[in-house]
Amino acid sequence: MTEAAGNAPDDASGAGDDVRGDAMAAEFDTVAAWTADVALALGPDHHVPAGCRGSGGPAALHWFLDHLRPAPGSTFLDVGAGVGGPAAFAAREAGVRPVLTEPQAGACRAARRLFDLPVVRAASALPVRDAAVTSGWCLGVLCTVEDQPALVRELRRVLAPDGRLGLLVYVAGQDDVRDAPEGNHFPTAESLGRLLADAGLVVEQSGQLADFAGTPPLWQEQAAAVEAELERRHGSDERFRTAERQSGRIGRLIARGDVRGTMLVVRPARA
Ligand SMILES: C[S@@+](CC[C@H](N)C(=O)[O-])C[C@H]1O[C@@H](n2cnc3c(N)ncnc32)[C@H](O)[C@@H]1O
Repeated sequence: MTEAAGNAPDDASGAGDDVRGDAMAAEFDTVAAWTADVALALGPDHHVPAGCRGSGGPAALHWFLDHLRPAPGSTFLDVGAGVGGPAAFAAREAGVRPVLTEPQAGACRAARRLFDLPVVRAASALPVRDAAVTSGWCLGVLCTVEDQPALVRELRRVLAPDGRLGLLVYVAGQDDVRDAPEGNHFPTAESLGRLLADAGLVVEQSGQLADFAGTPPLWQEQAAAVEAELERRHGSDERFRTAERQSGRIGRLIARGDVRGTMLVVRPARA
């Protein structure tokens, strides 16, 4: 597959087109960059917990890796990689070589600074050859994307015939979700099923994030230390408060059962 190289995030065409909204920029650009500053200051053991934003903890990531079974040393595509924690986890636990795509410049830089991973700045239009990807994942991304069919078609396009992709999607119990974070659109189980089928993807495995919710105490402590230091440094900044409101809203939706983190392993439908 196409490799991202160089020390700065490559800016693939169209990345800026999908970078929308002050709230999304606060959360995925500004606070992502601040998160890297804080994690670097706290030390390497804080980097992965700091860098997992929306993907759950180690148990959920292990579930994906156990089902994807990427070959050690193989390239592993992380779409909408954020700050890069899940990709770094995959490199550490499965020995893969991650390649990241991410539209927000602050998150791209954070992933490079924290994990020295190759990142391409790109939104839904993936700078990857057709059928080039044998494994990868796209975690907590779909509900932040306006044109979901376009992203899902791209995921299908880049997937090799024998490839597998992990998806974490926040799925709504009904069409109309009250108090959703700004810019988020949650598919229902039915509309997600249609999205995948229309793109030519078949679900091979599925699970619920809630079943993997427990994170080890050390991971929790490290994530909490990062959060506390972010609050100390930037608590009075409106962009931090906005990002906090966004994550508070999704937290409440999950707690009320209005949306559920749904874990899927998908493969191309056979012709
Ligand atoms: C909730 S975060 C998840 C980040 C990371 N996957 C994780 O689990 O830690 C959603 C990410 O999707 C990115 N994103 C938004 N629109 C996108 C698009 N059209 N294509 C790819 N990524 C997108 C955001 O910038 C953000 O970093």
